[in-house]
Amino acid sequence: MINFDLISDIHLDFWIKYSGNYSKLEEQMDEFIQSILPDSPSNILVIAGDLGHFNQQNFIFINKMMEIYKNILIVAGNHDYYLESKSIKNKYRKNSLNRWNEMRQFIQRFSNVMILDGTLVEIDNINFGGCGMWYDFQYGYQVLKASELEVFNHWKSVSNDSVLIEGKPRLVELMFQEEKQKLNQVLYQSDVIVTHFSPDWAHVPIDRAHDLATSFYYFDGREFFNQIKNKIWCFGHVHKRMDYMHYDCRFVNASLGYPGENKGLPSKIINVNHYV
Ligand SMILES: [Fe+2]
Repeated sequence: MINFDLISDIHLDFWIKYSGNYSKLEEQMDEFIQSILPDSPSNILVIAGDLGHFNQQNFIFINKMMEIYKNILIVAGNHDYYLESKSIKNKYRKNSLNRWNEMRQFIQRFSNVMILDGTLVEIDNINFGGCGMWYDFQYGYQVLKASELEVFNHWKSVSNDSVLIEGKPRLVELMFQEEKQKLNQVLYQSDVIVTHFSPDWAHVPIDRAHDLATSFYYFDGREFFNQIKNKIWCFGHVHKRMDYMHYDCRFVNASLGYPGENKGLPSKIINVNHYV
């Protein structure tokens, strides 16, 4: 039996405003964690990307979650590459990967927290594999019949990725190809696949279906779909929770999203319990 907890798109800095007062920050973090914790957490927590914009805050969060979960698995989301201000851009020398590498170095100190980045890890007899992945604009080309130029211009004008990400992840095609290679390395052996971006646009939220910006939310995962029978594919990015079967695979999105965004809907970490 497969059993683990899942959340994504925590966007920590939207829930906790850092005032410069450290003990207040600790208090706010405790309160926030209590608000998202399930009644009985399992051994494993999977975070499918978009933890937050500030590493120091992320570190406190991970430290506290380690007291609750024996194992924590994380993939990078697009927001994990954001450099929010001029001073942060300077701090990381205008390279988003420097911020992510700082996260990686922090996490490497703990044997029970791991970033999945083309990595396969076995916990409680379950193989978890994944990477952040990236988008490929194919939804725009294939579904919305837009041209490359139209999609690219739209990305430049509306996506914060094109403004707040610096370095390789902003080179969409290169980033996508590299991430796809990482996914290829682990997909077949994984019982549970974790990516931030979804490979399957069959369940695009109805209000997003005709939006060109949806091109930045998915990738065309068709080449993988004959290898995912009886697996679970966890993803986020779209701030809409869903849990459905497609290609004999269970697709699960347990995103939290921004405050006020999913009013009245459950906002806790979910438990994924699955008989195979
Ligand atoms: Fe995202």
